Amino acid sequence: MKKLMRMCSPNKTIKTSTCLEDTFNIGLDIGTRLNKGITIGLSGELGVGKTIFAKGLGEGLGVKELITSPTFLGINEYYSGRLPFIHMDFYQKVVDIKKINFYIDKNAVILIEWTENFNSMFNEKLKTNTIVYIKYLRDKEGSIIDNERQIVIESDNT
Ligand SMILES: Nc1ncnc2c1ncn2[C@@H]1O[C@H](COP(=O)(O)OP(=O)(O)OP(=O)(O)O)[C@@H](O)[C@H]1O
Ligand SMILES: [Mg+2]
Repeated sequence: MKKLMRMCSPNKTIKTSTCLEDTFNIGLDIGTRLNKGITIGLSGELGVGKTIFAKGLGEGLGVKELITSPTFLGINEYYSGRLPFIHMDFYQKVVDIKKINFYIDKNAVILIEWTENFNSMFNEKLKTNTIVYIKYLRDKEGSIIDNERQIVIESDNT
């Protein structure tokens, strides 16, 4: 029997998205497989597709309501899926760790856009089980290629 070679980055997956539906479906695939609470950080420049990914992930969890970008308080809660789905956006408002722990105690799937703002605001690293980086792809001249994104998923396998 052939021996499997050790993988150099076992917890890292890199995908290419060429349209918003691809990004949605990558989120959907992850959401479909989730069966316990998890904290996911979502990182990427303005308008890159973080909320599209969140919509897919929520759909994969079975959320029935329309998933929209969190405004005002920066937190949207959805309880119609298999697990509570908490979608946070720290672009304008960052919540403290007590609030995050409150949802962790409820076995929620917590998805946080602009996680890095927590780290700079509170000067401590937010503990996430998975980080999803969504990046614009650029041509040789450095211009953004329309609709193309690279999605890197780093997971601690919890
Ligand atoms: N491959 C792609 N994946 C995701 N979105 C794409 C893609 N190609 C084009 N788009 C467009 O990019 C936009 C992404 O918007 P979205 O609100 O998801 O970004 P965001 O990262 O959440 O922005 P913000 O930083 O303001 O929260 C949408 O208008 C979508 O149609
Ligand atoms: Mg967004």
